[in-house]
Amino acid sequence: MEQRRFGNTGLTVSALGYGAGHIGRPEMTEQEAEQILHTVLDLGITLIDTARGYGLSEERIGRHLAHRRQEFVLSTKVGYSVEGYEDWTGPTITAGIDRALKTLHTDYLDIVHLHSCPLEVLQQGDVVEALVRAEEAGKIRVAAYSGENEALQYAIDSGAFGSLQFSVNICDQRVIDNGLKLAYEHELGVIAKRPLANAPWRFAERPVGEYAEEYWVRLQEMGLSPGELEWDEFALRFTAFLPGVSTCIVGTSRIENLKRNAEILKKGSLPSGVVREVREAFAAKDWEWVGQI
Ligand SMILES: NC(=O)c1ccc[n+]([C@@H]2O[C@H](COP(=O)([O-])OP(=O)(O)OC[C@H]3O[C@@H](n4cnc5c(N)ncnc54)[C@H](OP(=O)(O)O)[C@@H]3O)[C@@H](O)[C@H]2O)c1
Repeated sequence: MEQRRFGNTGLTVSALGYGAGHIGRPEMTEQEAEQILHTVLDLGITLIDTARGYGLSEERIGRHLAHRRQEFVLSTKVGYSVEGYEDWTGPTITAGIDRALKTLHTDYLDIVHLHSCPLEVLQQGDVVEALVRAEEAGKIRVAAYSGENEALQYAIDSGAFGSLQFSVNICDQRVIDNGLKLAYEHELGVIAKRPLANAPWRFAERPVGEYAEEYWVRLQEMGLSPGELEWDEFALRFTAFLPGVSTCIVGTSRIENLKRNAEILKKGSLPSGVVREVREAFAAKDWEWVGQI
C-alpha cells in the first residue's frame, strides 16, 4: 500500500484510508466489526477516520484496535453531542476530545476535525481556539477542519488548521481548483471523503432520499462512461491521484470491497486524457454543483 506524506504535519498516511462510518451501525455484529478493522490494518491501510456521530464506531475502534494503536493514524471529529455541554462551544471541543480519548482507549489522537461546523462557528473563534489548545497540550497532533464551500475557504485562510477533510470525487469537483489547490500550496494534509461519490451507479433508478441521490443526478447529467474500466476503479483512481489528496477514505461494510479498493489503488492514476474528460464533463454542467457535506 502506497504511503504518503500528510502535508507538513510530520504524519504519513496510506493512499487508501478507511472511513469507519459503517462499523458504527448497530446491525453490524461485534465480530464483523472486529474482522473489518483487523483486515484494514493487515492490508497496510494506516489511516482510520471516525467521528463522535458515527454510532458505535469510536467505541469499536477502541475495543478492537487499542493493542495495535501504533500501526495507524487515528482521525476523529468533535463539536457536538457531549452530555452536559452545548454544541459548538469551546468547552464542548475540550470535553469532546477528552471523551474521544477515553472511548478510543488512547492517550493521543492524531487528527481531530471540527465536524462540518458552519462558517459562523468558525468566525466565532472560541471553538478553533479550544482545538488549537488541545494540540498545544499534546492531546491531539493535528487540528483539522471538515467541511465544504465557504466554510472550507475560511478554514484554509485562517491558517489555524494543519489538515482538511472534504468531499472530492467524479461528481464533486469544484473544490479541485479551489480548496484542494490551496491545500497543496499550503502543504496541508488532505483527507478526501466520499471518494467513490457514494457509488451512485449501483442504483438503476434515482435513489430518492439516499445519500447517493445528488451524485446520481449529477452522474446522469454528465453522461460519463468508465470505458473499459469498472465504475469503482474509474471513480477511485480519479480521486486518489488528484494532486494534493493525501488519502481517500472509502467507507465499506464488506471485506471484499476493502480488498478490491486496495488492489485498485495499486494501478495508479487514470491516464491524463481521461482525467481531462472527467473534468470537462463536470465543468460543462456545473451551474450550482456545490460541495456536498
Ligand atoms: N466529514 C464528514 O462530514 C463526512 C461525511 C461523509 C463521509 N465521511 C467519511 O468518509 C467516509 C466515506 O464516505 P462514504 O462511505 O459516504 O462514501 P464513499 O466512500 O464514496 O462510498 C462508500 C459506499 O460505496 C460502497 N463501496 C465501497 N467500496 C466499493 C466498491 N469497490 N465498489 C462498489 N461499492 C463500494 C460502500 O458500500 P458497501 O458497504 O456495500 O461496500 C459504501 O456504501 C465515511 O465512512 C466517513 O469516514 C465524512
